Amino acid sequence: MRRIEFHNRVEEMEEITRLLDTEPTLITFIYGPINSGKTELINNLIKNLPENQKVFYINLRGRFVSNYDEFIKVLFDVEHEARYGRIQEFLKPIVNVLPGSYHGIPIPKDMFLKLFEEKDVEDAFVYIETVLRAFYESGNVPVLIIDELQVIGDLKVDDLLIYKLFNFFIRLTKELHLAHVFTISSDSLFIEEVHSEAMLEGRCRYLLVDDFDRETTAAFLEKYGFTDDETAVAWEYCGGKPICLVELVNAKLNGKDVESESKKLLKIRTSQIFSIFDEISLGKVEYSEKSILEEFKNFEQEEMLQYGRINKEKIFLVGRNVFFIDPTQRTIKPQSRLNLLAIREVMKSV
Ligand SMILES: Nc1ncnc2c1ncn2[C@@H]1O[C@H](COP(=O)(O)OP(=O)(O)OP(=O)(O)O)[C@@H](O)[C@H]1O
Ligand SMILES: [Mg+2]
Repeated sequence: MRRIEFHNRVEEMEEITRLLDTEPTLITFIYGPINSGKTELINNLIKNLPENQKVFYINLRGRFVSNYDEFIKVLFDVEHEARYGRIQEFLKPIVNVLPGSYHGIPIPKDMFLKLFEEKDVEDAFVYIETVLRAFYESGNVPVLIIDELQVIGDLKVDDLLIYKLFNFFIRLTKELHLAHVFTISSDSLFIEEVHSEAMLEGRCRYLLVDDFDRETTAAFLEKYGFTDDETAVAWEYCGGKPICLVELVNAKLNGKDVESESKKLLKIRTSQIFSIFDEISLGKVEYSEKSILEEFKNFEQEEMLQYGRINKEKIFLVGRNVFFIDPTQRTIKPQSRLNLLAIREVMKSV
Protein backbone atom coordinates (compact mmCIF):
# COMPACT_ATOMS: atom_id res chain seq x y z
CA MET A 1 0.00 0.00 0.00
CA ARG A 2 1.33 3.41 -0.91
CA ARG A 3 0.61 6.14 1.58
CA ILE A 4 -0.44 9.55 0.28
CA GLU A 5 1.92 12.15 1.66
CA PHE A 6 0.84 15.47 3.10
CA HIS A 7 1.11 18.02 0.31
CA ASN A 8 2.04 21.68 0.32
CA ARG A 9 -0.04 24.16 2.34
CA VAL A 10 3.09 26.29 2.52
CA GLU A 11 1.23 29.59 2.78
CA GLU A 12 -1.19 28.42 5.44
CA MET A 13 1.63 26.83 7.47
CA GLU A 14 3.66 30.04 7.26
CA GLU A 15 0.68 32.08 8.34
CA ILE A 16 0.03 29.85 11.36
CA THR A 17 3.71 29.70 12.28
CA ARG A 18 3.84 33.48 12.15
CA LEU A 19 0.83 33.65 14.48
CA LEU A 20 2.52 31.23 16.88
CA ASP A 21 5.56 33.50 16.97
CA THR A 22 3.56 36.48 18.16
CA GLU A 23 1.78 37.11 21.42
CA PRO A 24 -1.77 35.77 21.30
CA THR A 25 -4.32 38.55 20.99
CA LEU A 26 -7.12 37.16 18.86
CA ILE A 27 -8.97 33.87 18.44
CA THR A 28 -8.21 32.36 15.00
CA PHE A 29 -11.12 30.79 13.12
CA ILE A 30 -9.96 28.33 10.50
CA TYR A 31 -12.75 27.74 8.03
CA GLY A 32 -13.33 26.50 4.51
CA PRO A 33 -15.49 24.19 2.40
CA ILE A 34 -15.95 20.59 3.48
CA ASN A 35 -13.02 18.25 2.91
CA SER A 36 -10.67 21.08 1.99
CA GLY A 37 -7.98 19.71 4.30
CA LYS A 38 -8.37 21.75 7.49
CA THR A 39 -7.95 18.86 9.89
CA GLU A 40 -5.10 17.43 7.85
CA LEU A 41 -3.34 20.80 7.92
CA ILE A 42 -3.63 21.06 11.70
CA ASN A 43 -2.50 17.47 12.25
CA ASN A 44 0.51 18.09 10.09
CA LEU A 45 1.27 21.30 11.92
CA ILE A 46 1.11 19.54 15.30
CA LYS A 47 3.43 16.81 14.04
CA ASN A 48 6.01 19.36 12.98
CA LEU A 49 5.96 21.68 15.96
CA PRO A 50 8.94 21.49 18.28
CA GLU A 51 8.43 19.18 21.27
CA ASN A 52 8.42 22.11 23.70
CA GLN A 53 5.39 23.70 22.01
CA LYS A 54 2.49 22.15 23.89
CA VAL A 55 -0.67 21.59 21.88
CA PHE A 56 -4.11 20.61 23.12
CA TYR A 57 -6.13 19.41 20.18
CA ILE A 58 -9.76 18.54 20.73
CA ASN A 59 -11.77 17.18 17.83
CA LEU A 60 -15.51 17.23 18.48
CA ARG A 61 -16.30 15.30 15.30
CA GLY A 62 -18.36 12.24 16.01
CA ARG A 63 -18.57 13.15 19.68
CA PHE A 64 -22.10 13.32 20.97
CA VAL A 65 -22.28 16.40 23.14
CA SER A 66 -25.72 17.17 24.46
CA ASN A 67 -25.12 18.11 28.08
CA TYR A 68 -22.53 19.30 30.56
CA ASP A 69 -21.18 15.84 31.41
CA GLU A 70 -20.56 15.01 27.78
CA PHE A 71 -18.92 18.35 27.17
CA ILE A 72 -16.58 17.82 30.10
CA LYS A 73 -15.78 14.34 28.80
CA VAL A 74 -14.60 15.63 25.43
CA LEU A 75 -12.71 18.57 26.85
CA PHE A 76 -10.46 16.56 29.11
CA ASP A 77 -7.94 13.81 28.64
CA VAL A 78 -8.32 11.92 31.90
CA GLU A 79 -5.06 10.70 33.28
CA HIS A 80 -5.11 7.19 34.59
CA GLU A 81 -3.46 6.17 37.82
CA ALA A 82 -0.21 5.10 36.18
CA ARG A 83 0.44 8.54 34.78
CA TYR A 84 -1.01 10.43 37.71
CA GLY A 85 2.39 11.29 39.10
CA ARG A 86 3.44 12.95 35.89
CA ILE A 87 0.37 15.17 35.96
CA GLN A 88 1.34 16.34 39.43
CA GLU A 89 4.68 17.21 37.94
CA PHE A 90 3.47 19.74 35.44
CA LEU A 91 1.43 21.63 37.95
CA LYS A 92 4.65 22.42 39.79
CA PRO A 93 5.13 23.52 36.87
CA ILE A 94 7.72 21.27 35.26
CA VAL A 95 6.34 20.53 31.84
CA ASN A 96 9.12 19.18 29.70
CA VAL A 97 8.63 15.59 30.72
CA LEU A 98 5.13 15.56 29.27
CA PRO A 99 4.36 14.69 25.67
CA GLY A 100 4.03 17.49 23.12
CA SER A 101 0.40 17.11 22.16
CA TYR A 102 -2.79 15.98 23.83
CA HIS A 103 -6.31 15.10 22.78
CA GLY A 104 -7.83 17.19 25.53
CA ILE A 105 -6.68 19.00 28.62
CA PRO A 106 -4.84 16.53 30.86
CA ILE A 107 -6.50 16.11 34.21
CA PRO A 108 -6.13 13.76 37.17
CA LYS A 109 -9.10 11.45 37.57
CA ASP A 110 -10.26 12.67 40.98
CA MET A 111 -10.30 16.27 39.84
CA PHE A 112 -12.21 15.26 36.74
CA LEU A 113 -14.82 13.46 38.82
CA LYS A 114 -15.19 16.51 41.01
CA LEU A 115 -15.89 18.67 37.95
CA PHE A 116 -18.48 16.13 36.91
CA GLU A 117 -20.20 16.34 40.23
CA GLU A 118 -20.31 20.07 40.54
CA LYS A 119 -21.40 20.70 36.96
CA ASP A 120 -19.93 24.15 36.89
CA VAL A 121 -18.50 25.27 33.56
CA GLU A 122 -16.62 28.09 35.22
CA ASP A 123 -14.75 25.57 37.41
CA ALA A 124 -13.73 23.66 34.31
CA PHE A 125 -12.47 26.86 32.71
CA VAL A 126 -10.56 27.81 35.85
CA TYR A 127 -8.86 24.43 35.77
CA ILE A 128 -7.96 24.77 32.09
CA GLU A 129 -6.62 28.26 32.69
CA THR A 130 -4.45 26.92 35.51
CA VAL A 131 -3.03 24.21 33.28
CA LEU A 132 -2.36 26.65 30.43
CA ARG A 133 -0.71 29.05 32.84
CA ALA A 134 1.58 26.29 34.10
CA PHE A 135 2.71 25.65 30.55
CA TYR A 136 2.94 29.34 29.77
CA GLU A 137 5.17 29.96 32.77
CA SER A 138 7.45 27.18 31.68
CA GLY A 139 8.42 29.37 28.73
CA ASN A 140 6.18 28.38 25.84
CA VAL A 141 2.79 29.72 24.94
CA PRO A 142 0.54 26.66 24.67
CA VAL A 143 -1.83 26.11 21.77
CA LEU A 144 -5.49 25.16 22.18
CA ILE A 145 -7.27 23.87 19.09
CA ILE A 146 -10.93 22.90 18.89
CA ASP A 147 -11.93 21.16 15.67
CA GLU A 148 -15.59 20.96 14.59
CA LEU A 149 -16.62 23.60 17.09
CA GLN A 150 -20.12 23.79 15.60
CA VAL A 151 -20.94 20.49 17.34
CA ILE A 152 -21.66 22.44 20.52
CA GLY A 153 -23.25 25.39 18.69
CA ASP A 154 -26.70 24.79 20.20
CA LEU A 155 -25.70 23.27 23.52
CA LYS A 156 -27.14 24.93 26.60
CA VAL A 157 -25.58 24.69 30.05
CA ASP A 158 -27.74 27.32 31.77
CA ASP A 159 -27.14 29.65 28.82
CA LEU A 160 -25.67 28.84 25.45
CA LEU A 161 -22.33 27.21 26.18
CA ILE A 162 -20.71 28.59 23.05
CA TYR A 163 -20.91 32.14 24.45
CA LYS A 164 -19.23 31.09 27.68
CA LEU A 165 -16.59 29.33 25.62
CA PHE A 166 -16.00 32.36 23.40
CA ASN A 167 -15.71 34.57 26.47
CA PHE A 168 -13.18 32.15 27.89
CA PHE A 169 -11.21 32.17 24.63
CA ILE A 170 -11.27 35.98 24.56
CA ARG A 171 -9.88 35.94 28.09
CA LEU A 172 -7.11 33.50 27.14
CA THR A 173 -6.08 35.53 24.09
CA LYS A 174 -6.88 39.22 24.19
CA GLU A 175 -6.77 39.66 27.96
CA LEU A 176 -4.22 37.21 29.36
CA HIS A 177 -2.22 36.40 26.19
CA LEU A 178 -1.87 32.98 27.77
CA ALA A 179 -2.58 30.64 24.87
CA HIS A 180 -3.03 30.56 21.12
CA VAL A 181 -6.61 29.57 20.41
CA PHE A 182 -7.66 28.08 17.09
CA THR A 183 -11.14 26.91 16.28
CA ILE A 184 -11.99 25.01 13.12
CA SER A 185 -15.24 24.52 11.27
CA SER A 186 -16.50 23.75 7.79
CA ASP A 187 -20.07 24.50 8.73
CA SER A 188 -20.52 27.78 6.94
CA LEU A 189 -23.82 28.51 8.66
CA PHE A 190 -22.01 28.34 11.96
CA ILE A 191 -19.21 30.55 10.64
CA GLU A 192 -21.84 32.99 9.41
CA GLU A 193 -23.32 33.15 12.93
CA VAL A 194 -19.88 33.60 14.47
CA HIS A 195 -19.05 36.27 11.95
CA SER A 196 -22.12 38.33 12.76
CA GLU A 197 -21.75 37.86 16.53
CA ALA A 198 -21.24 41.24 18.17
CA MET A 199 -19.35 39.71 21.08
CA LEU A 200 -16.59 38.53 18.74
CA GLU A 201 -16.27 41.75 16.79
CA GLY A 202 -12.58 42.71 16.71
CA ARG A 203 -11.64 39.70 18.82
CA CYS A 204 -10.99 37.10 16.18
CA ARG A 205 -9.40 36.65 12.81
CA TYR A 206 -10.38 34.32 9.98
CA LEU A 207 -8.11 31.99 8.08
CA LEU A 208 -9.52 30.34 4.97
CA VAL A 209 -8.28 26.86 4.07
CA ASP A 210 -9.66 26.31 0.61
CA ASP A 211 -9.19 23.54 -1.96
CA PHE A 212 -5.79 23.50 -3.75
CA ASP A 213 -5.26 25.87 -6.65
CA ARG A 214 -4.41 24.56 -10.15
CA GLU A 215 -0.65 24.69 -9.65
CA THR A 216 -0.72 22.91 -6.27
CA THR A 217 -3.06 20.27 -7.70
CA ALA A 218 -0.73 19.62 -10.66
CA ALA A 219 2.29 19.34 -8.34
CA PHE A 220 0.40 16.91 -6.10
CA LEU A 221 -0.65 14.67 -8.99
CA GLU A 222 2.80 14.75 -10.54
CA LYS A 223 4.14 12.96 -7.46
CA TYR A 224 1.94 10.01 -8.38
CA GLY A 225 2.87 9.92 -12.06
CA PHE A 226 -0.20 11.61 -13.54
CA THR A 227 0.24 12.54 -17.21
CA ASP A 228 -0.76 16.03 -18.37
CA ASP A 229 -3.99 14.64 -19.76
CA GLU A 230 -4.83 12.84 -16.53
CA THR A 231 -4.09 15.99 -14.55
CA ALA A 232 -6.38 17.98 -16.85
CA VAL A 233 -9.17 15.45 -16.26
CA ALA A 234 -8.60 15.43 -12.50
CA TRP A 235 -8.73 19.24 -12.41
CA GLU A 236 -11.87 19.29 -14.55
CA TYR A 237 -13.74 16.92 -12.19
CA CYS A 238 -12.22 17.42 -8.76
CA GLY A 239 -10.82 20.94 -8.97
CA GLY A 240 -8.39 21.15 -6.07
CA LYS A 241 -10.47 19.16 -3.56
CA PRO A 242 -7.83 17.05 -1.78
CA ILE A 243 -10.10 14.15 -0.85
CA CYS A 244 -11.28 13.81 -4.44
CA LEU A 245 -7.72 13.96 -5.77
CA VAL A 246 -6.65 11.31 -3.28
CA GLU A 247 -9.47 9.12 -4.58
CA LEU A 248 -8.19 9.49 -8.15
CA VAL A 249 -4.58 8.88 -7.11
CA ASN A 250 -5.62 5.66 -5.40
CA ALA A 251 -7.62 4.65 -8.45
CA LYS A 252 -4.61 5.23 -10.68
CA LEU A 253 -2.30 3.35 -8.31
CA ASN A 254 -4.76 0.46 -8.57
CA GLY A 255 -4.47 0.52 -12.34
CA LYS A 256 -7.83 2.15 -13.01
CA ASP A 257 -8.62 4.76 -15.64
CA VAL A 258 -8.66 8.29 -14.22
CA GLU A 259 -11.34 9.57 -16.57
CA SER A 260 -13.87 6.83 -16.00
CA GLU A 261 -13.32 7.06 -12.21
CA SER A 262 -13.91 10.81 -12.41
CA LYS A 263 -17.14 10.26 -14.33
CA LYS A 264 -18.28 7.80 -11.71
CA LEU A 265 -17.70 10.36 -8.96
CA LEU A 266 -19.71 12.93 -10.89
CA LYS A 267 -22.55 10.51 -11.42
CA ILE A 268 -22.78 9.85 -7.71
CA ARG A 269 -22.82 13.55 -6.85
CA THR A 270 -25.37 14.32 -9.55
CA SER A 271 -27.64 11.62 -8.24
CA GLN A 272 -27.31 13.02 -4.73
CA ILE A 273 -28.40 16.43 -5.98
CA PHE A 274 -31.32 14.91 -7.86
CA SER A 275 -32.41 13.29 -4.62
CA ILE A 276 -33.17 16.77 -3.28
CA PHE A 277 -35.84 17.01 -5.96
CA ASP A 278 -37.14 13.57 -4.99
CA GLU A 279 -37.52 14.87 -1.46
CA ILE A 280 -39.38 17.93 -2.74
CA SER A 281 -41.78 15.68 -4.69
CA LEU A 282 -42.36 13.59 -1.59
CA GLY A 283 -43.09 16.69 0.46
CA LYS A 284 -40.05 16.14 2.72
CA VAL A 285 -38.53 19.50 1.80
CA GLU A 286 -40.53 22.69 2.06
CA TYR A 287 -38.91 24.54 -0.86
CA SER A 288 -40.26 24.44 -4.40
CA GLU A 289 -38.32 22.85 -7.22
CA LYS A 290 -38.50 26.16 -9.03
CA SER A 291 -36.86 28.11 -6.21
CA ILE A 292 -34.03 25.58 -5.89
CA LEU A 293 -33.46 25.60 -9.65
CA GLU A 294 -33.36 29.38 -9.47
CA GLU A 295 -30.38 29.08 -7.11
CA PHE A 296 -28.67 26.52 -9.35
CA LYS A 297 -29.19 28.68 -12.41
CA ASN A 298 -26.73 31.20 -11.00
CA PHE A 299 -23.96 28.64 -11.46
CA GLU A 300 -24.64 27.68 -15.04
CA GLN A 301 -22.00 30.16 -16.14
CA GLU A 302 -20.32 31.29 -12.93
CA GLU A 303 -18.22 29.35 -10.41
CA MET A 304 -18.53 31.80 -7.55
CA LEU A 305 -20.84 34.73 -6.85
CA GLN A 306 -21.01 37.70 -4.58
CA TYR A 307 -24.24 37.62 -2.55
CA GLY A 308 -26.26 40.56 -1.32
CA ARG A 309 -28.96 39.09 0.89
CA ILE A 310 -28.99 35.50 1.94
CA ASN A 311 -32.33 33.68 1.40
CA LYS A 312 -33.78 30.51 2.91
CA GLU A 313 -33.08 28.43 -0.19
CA LYS A 314 -29.38 29.31 -0.03
CA ILE A 315 -29.29 28.45 3.65
CA PHE A 316 -31.00 25.15 2.90
CA LEU A 317 -28.47 24.32 0.18
CA VAL A 318 -25.59 25.29 2.43
CA GLY A 319 -27.04 22.96 5.05
CA ARG A 320 -27.16 20.19 2.44
CA ASN A 321 -23.49 20.78 1.62
CA VAL A 322 -24.26 21.86 -1.91
CA PHE A 323 -23.14 25.46 -1.42
CA PHE A 324 -20.40 27.01 0.67
CA ILE A 325 -20.66 30.60 1.82
CA ASP A 326 -17.77 32.73 2.93
CA PRO A 327 -19.41 35.36 5.14
CA THR A 328 -16.17 37.32 5.45
CA GLN A 329 -16.20 38.03 1.70
CA ARG A 330 -19.95 37.55 1.11
CA THR A 331 -19.27 34.99 -1.58
CA ILE A 332 -21.13 31.80 -2.38
CA LYS A 333 -19.97 28.84 -4.45
CA PRO A 334 -20.61 25.11 -4.75
CA GLN A 335 -18.81 23.11 -2.04
CA SER A 336 -16.62 21.48 -4.68
CA ARG A 337 -15.95 21.28 -8.39
CA LEU A 338 -17.94 18.02 -8.45
CA ASN A 339 -20.89 19.89 -6.97
CA LEU A 340 -20.60 22.60 -9.58
CA LEU A 341 -20.56 20.03 -12.40
CA ALA A 342 -23.42 18.10 -10.81
CA ILE A 343 -25.49 21.29 -10.61
CA ARG A 344 -24.81 21.90 -14.30
CA GLU A 345 -25.81 18.33 -15.14
CA VAL A 346 -29.07 18.84 -13.28
CA MET A 347 -29.70 22.12 -15.13
CA LYS A 348 -29.12 20.38 -18.46
CA SER A 349 -31.85 17.86 -17.73
CA VAL A 350 -34.65 20.19 -16.66
N1 LIG B 1 -2.47 18.75 2.23
C1 LIG B 1 -2.92 17.53 1.97
N2 LIG B 1 -2.11 16.61 1.38
C2 LIG B 1 -2.57 15.38 1.10
N3 LIG B 1 -3.81 14.97 1.33
C3 LIG B 1 -4.67 15.82 1.91
C4 LIG B 1 -4.26 17.16 2.24
N4 LIG B 1 -5.31 17.78 2.80
C5 LIG B 1 -6.31 16.90 2.81
N5 LIG B 1 -5.94 15.72 2.28
C6 LIG B 1 -6.82 14.55 2.08
O1 LIG B 1 -8.15 14.96 2.12
C7 LIG B 1 -8.87 14.30 3.15
C8 LIG B 1 -9.82 15.29 3.80
O2 LIG B 1 -9.10 16.25 4.51
P1 LIG B 1 -9.57 16.79 5.93
O3 LIG B 1 -10.33 15.78 6.67
O4 LIG B 1 -8.40 17.42 6.56
O5 LIG B 1 -10.59 17.92 5.46
P2 LIG B 1 -11.41 18.92 6.38
O6 LIG B 1 -11.40 20.23 5.70
O7 LIG B 1 -10.94 18.85 7.77
O8 LIG B 1 -12.84 18.24 6.23
P3 LIG B 1 -14.16 18.56 7.10
O9 LIG B 1 -14.82 19.65 6.33
O10 LIG B 1 -14.93 17.29 7.02
O11 LIG B 1 -13.73 18.92 8.47
C9 LIG B 1 -7.80 13.77 4.10
O12 LIG B 1 -8.20 12.59 4.71
C10 LIG B 1 -6.62 13.52 3.18
O13 LIG B 1 -6.75 12.26 2.56
MG1 LIG C 1 -12.01 18.44 9.53
